Amino acid sequence: MLLGPDELEKAVAILKKNDVLAIPTETVYGLAGNIYSEEAIAKIFELKKRPLNNPLIVHLHKMEQVHEIVAEFPSKAKLLAEQFWPGPLTLVLKKGNNVPDLVTAGKDTVAIRIPDHPVTLALLEKLPFPIAAPSANPFNRISPTSAEHVHGYFQNTLAVLDGGACKKGIESTIIGFEGEEPILYRLGSISKETIEELIGEVRVQNKAKAAPNAPGMLKKHYAPTTKTYLTDNAQEMAYMTEGKKVGLLRFTGRSEDPNYRHIEVLSPSGDLAEATANLYGALHRLDSMKLDMIIAERAPHIGLGVSINDRLERATQ
Ligand code: TXA
Ligand code: MG
Repeated sequence: MLLGPDELEKAVAILKKNDVLAIPTETVYGLAGNIYSEEAIAKIFELKKRPLNNPLIVHLHKMEQVHEIVAEFPSKAKLLAEQFWPGPLTLVLKKGNNVPDLVTAGKDTVAIRIPDHPVTLALLEKLPFPIAAPSANPFNRISPTSAEHVHGYFQNTLAVLDGGACKKGIESTIIGFEGEEPILYRLGSISKETIEELIGEVRVQNKAKAAPNAPGMLKKHYAPTTKTYLTDNAQEMAYMTEGKKVGLLRFTGRSEDPNYRHIEVLSPSGDLAEATANLYGALHRLDSMKLDMIIAERAPHIGLGVSINDRLERATQ
């Protein structure tokens, strides 16, 4: 069932009766439920087929709610929140006693953010509780950036609040803390450089160590079902593609080439933010074309290009 932005009351009713609903955010669509409802949270894990040890992000409506959820708010976290909320930044902080263990997978920290989407902010304002929402894709699949993507995954088992295409297009950047020291758990819609302009150098969680803390850093994630190869230059893969139906995903450049069945150009003008916004939509389209393989070219490794390349690497493990 698709709900229009003018049907907020229906969305409110679904969440109040402990059911779940897909919601739009500026990053990707989320699969939302009342954080205080064990029934709703259990349903999120079940629908996504997500392991119970992988915690959820709590979505708030305004800064004043943070104290309901967290026990400590380090000064650099506060600076980041003031700068980037509402927006694609998730903070992992020491959790308060109210937050159910199911949401945080038993951790003593909780992930929180205020999303920047008018429909979901209006929804949150009408609710007497925060909502937990992982990305609205089955475990290990590409995150949805449109209501149609969500519907494609869950069909009629899930109501979707339609807020149009997600403007940022990849997940939020996740920052945690060891004491006062900030640590980047997941690259995302805000580049590392942009974060560092505000709070100074940020350590990147080493990948081997990352899995227990942020399973979003798991190697295989965000993956198409079509075999996908990553390269700096698609020409170098030419020997593999003869006689095959091949799709090409490239950062910029021409969209016509007889060697490929279909080409997705992420940004004709070479703009990294535009390319980020188009990334998952392009992967979804390529993945639905019954190709023999997808070849993806890396983006320039700077700013949001680092986040794009991170997702491409996970898509091709
Ligand atoms: O942009 C986003 O962040 C989207 C939208 C819907 O808000 N949500 C999203 O949620 O990407 P999800 O569940 O797909 O990814 C959240 C990541 C997971 O990798 C999870 O392991 C990590 O956040 N996470 C959640 N709570 C955590 C915690 N307490 N400590 C460390 N990592 C945590
Ligand atoms: Mg996810």
